[in-house]
Amino acid sequence: MYPRINIDLNKLEENCETFLKQCKDNHITSCFAVVKVLAGNLEAIEMIAKSGFDYLADSRLDNLKKMRLFTKPKALMRLPMISEAKAVVKYVDLSLNSELKTIKKLNSEAKKLNKKHDIILMFDLGDLREGIFYQDDYIDIIDEILMLENICLRGIGTNLTCYGGVIPTAENLSMLVKIAHTLENEFDISFDIISGGNSSTVYLFNQQKIPEAINNLRVGEALLLGRETAYGHWIEGMHQDIFTLEAELIEVKEKPSYPIGEIGMNSFGEIPIIENRGMMNRGIVALGKQDIQIDNLIPIDPKIEVIGGSSDHLILDLKEAHYHVGDIVSFKVNYPGLLQVMTSKYVKKNPK
Ligand SMILES: Cc1ncc(COP(=O)(O)O)c(C=O)c1O
Repeated sequence: MYPRINIDLNKLEENCETFLKQCKDNHITSCFAVVKVLAGNLEAIEMIAKSGFDYLADSRLDNLKKMRLFTKPKALMRLPMISEAKAVVKYVDLSLNSELKTIKKLNSEAKKLNKKHDIILMFDLGDLREGIFYQDDYIDIIDEILMLENICLRGIGTNLTCYGGVIPTAENLSMLVKIAHTLENEFDISFDIISGGNSSTVYLFNQQKIPEAINNLRVGEALLLGRETAYGHWIEGMHQDIFTLEAELIEVKEKPSYPIGEIGMNSFGEIPIIENRGMMNRGIVALGKQDIQIDNLIPIDPKIEVIGGSSDHLILDLKEAHYHVGDIVSFKVNYPGLLQVMTSKYVKKNPK
């Protein structure tokens, strides 16, 4: 059944082990496995649940709910919606937060369930997504959080290289540590988590630039694609080919490469810009923009090229390659592409 995404579970297991070892070597003693890109695929997540990661983390509560059969603690990576506070407390052990109103709601819902809910308070060091802006006054909010009986403030964290593309450095991560120490001194508390970001922090491994007090990361892409996201470099020793997308050829024909007739809009309302390459060995595979944005696909066969597509058709320049109708074409996908195919109900998931 095609299209399908193959997931190599042995390689996934090895990436978990290799990555956690690299974390240890860099004084990262706790780590969240961010599995949102797996879109709740329990066979793949089970492999990670068996590994040494401390939390299974996702930004969607629906996915986290599905993971309740695993005993590993669960963490919500997107700030909770107030409207989902009850379910957050029920299905999730820890959430990232930045709004006192939401934290108070989590507290009252936790009280009803006679539970304690753990939080990490997020600080925005300049990337301008979630978090208390680092230049703002943050003493009062901590004072209030510490008074909430059913909330446990486990630590603080930051998220970089997401909206603004800001790279983690010794300087901005030291600002996070400074905030942590200020709060610990002011309130005579001790944080057990100082979370220094996501896969973009991984480029700092083995450079002695991650401040000692940073003891946690939350990683998705580094773990699953073996790639750090500050500069997009592959991580040594990690598999980059856990996932392979396969799709079936439904037409193979020799045709011109340039359309014939007056050119208007394509099926997506865009005026197509098409290069005239003369006669072409063209293939169409049964995969389309409904499944994946096509520039997120990389054909594994270096002889072939993706030249375009519509909702349900992907058009290939097969060049000199010998493919026939019914043959399977394999692709690598980048991280946004992986999220799309894992989310598409039309792409079969094939963990093996
Ligand atoms: C708050 C937060 N932390 C960590 C991650 C993991 O990011 P990455 O895949 O770059 O490691 C994400 C996104 O998935 C996130 O939203």
